[in-house]
Amino acid sequence: MKSFIRIMAFTLAAAMLLPLAACDSGSGGGKVETVKIGISLYRKDDTFVASLCTCLERVAKQKETESGKKIVVNMVDGQSSQALQNDQVDSFISQNYDVICVNMVDRTAAAVIVDKAKAANIPVIFFNREPVEEDIRLWERAYYVGADAAQSGRLQGEIIAEAFQKNRAEIDKNGDGKIQYVMLEGEQGHQDALLRTEYSIKAVTSAGIQVEKLANDTANWQRAQGSAKMTQWLAKFGDRIEVVFCNNDDMALGAIDTVKDSKTKVHPAIVGVDATESGLNAIKDGSMFGTVFNDAQGQAKAIFDLSYALATGESPSTKLNIQNEHYIRIPYRAVTVSNADEILNILKE
Ligand code: GAL
Ligand code: CA
Repeated sequence: MKSFIRIMAFTLAAAMLLPLAACDSGSGGGKVETVKIGISLYRKDDTFVASLCTCLERVAKQKETESGKKIVVNMVDGQSSQALQNDQVDSFISQNYDVICVNMVDRTAAAVIVDKAKAANIPVIFFNREPVEEDIRLWERAYYVGADAAQSGRLQGEIIAEAFQKNRAEIDKNGDGKIQYVMLEGEQGHQDALLRTEYSIKAVTSAGIQVEKLANDTANWQRAQGSAKMTQWLAKFGDRIEVVFCNNDDMALGAIDTVKDSKTKVHPAIVGVDATESGLNAIKDGSMFGTVFNDAQGQAKAIFDLSYALATGESPSTKLNIQNEHYIRIPYRAVTVSNADEILNILKE
């Protein structure tokens, strides 16, 4: 009988401990053994997003060694479907993930995700595709990590404006004092497409330089689409095109593919954004005029550090520079041939 009581007491005590162990992750107080981060991507085959993921995996591994905790980073592909992405978030919630990071398929649909996360009390970090502020403010544990899209446009425009002022003939090929340009835009409605398109041109005109838009269209961030649009424009405008503003490097590389294949003797100045490895190599070989460094490493580190802080119960603002309670923005940098190697080295770090 005595031993029966002892067994019962032991079972009871163990049963009482169980919920504690289950809450272990995310309860704070330095007891966390496993940190589970669920990440849903708008699409896995996007060049910049893919590089961000590689960086994220690397920081997570580093932290795992450093902290002795087990860090699970589960990345799933939303395949451009908001419905699928919502299911993925539900699944992370039902598996008790500590933090959910979302690269929205449709950035206007974030309220649904915030509501789900809030109901489950799991913090949510949006990244790269910025929800409207109203949605971020629905809950104090909703965050956005990204960059200041207008800044990338401004820096891109300044590269062209400075070149025009230094050596006008390099840009203004027909010598009419104006810049004839075409604009390859990213996905419609994406904050980076809207603001880069607007601010690149504003930077040029506010430097006192006149512009003439020959054409603009979306190529959805993609190299093949960029190349196809450029083929049409080259057929229509020929060497009247002096500058090709591209909302990202992949589309710029597409435009370069077309220019290289064509017989045009006058090559327009082609500028992008991201500073991907291929983009930087194109700057080095002279086929791309400039780009703007979109710091995947810096953004990945911020996403991870914020996730880790939220999962372990640390106050995020002690180590991270959080603006307006919800935002972390990593600065962009202009890149031309003078610093392309420096940025290439950063990518290789
Ligand atoms: C932008 C980036 C693009 C594309 C897009 C996807 O920040 O410049 O190349 O990756 O995000 O949302
Ligand atoms: Ca001109």
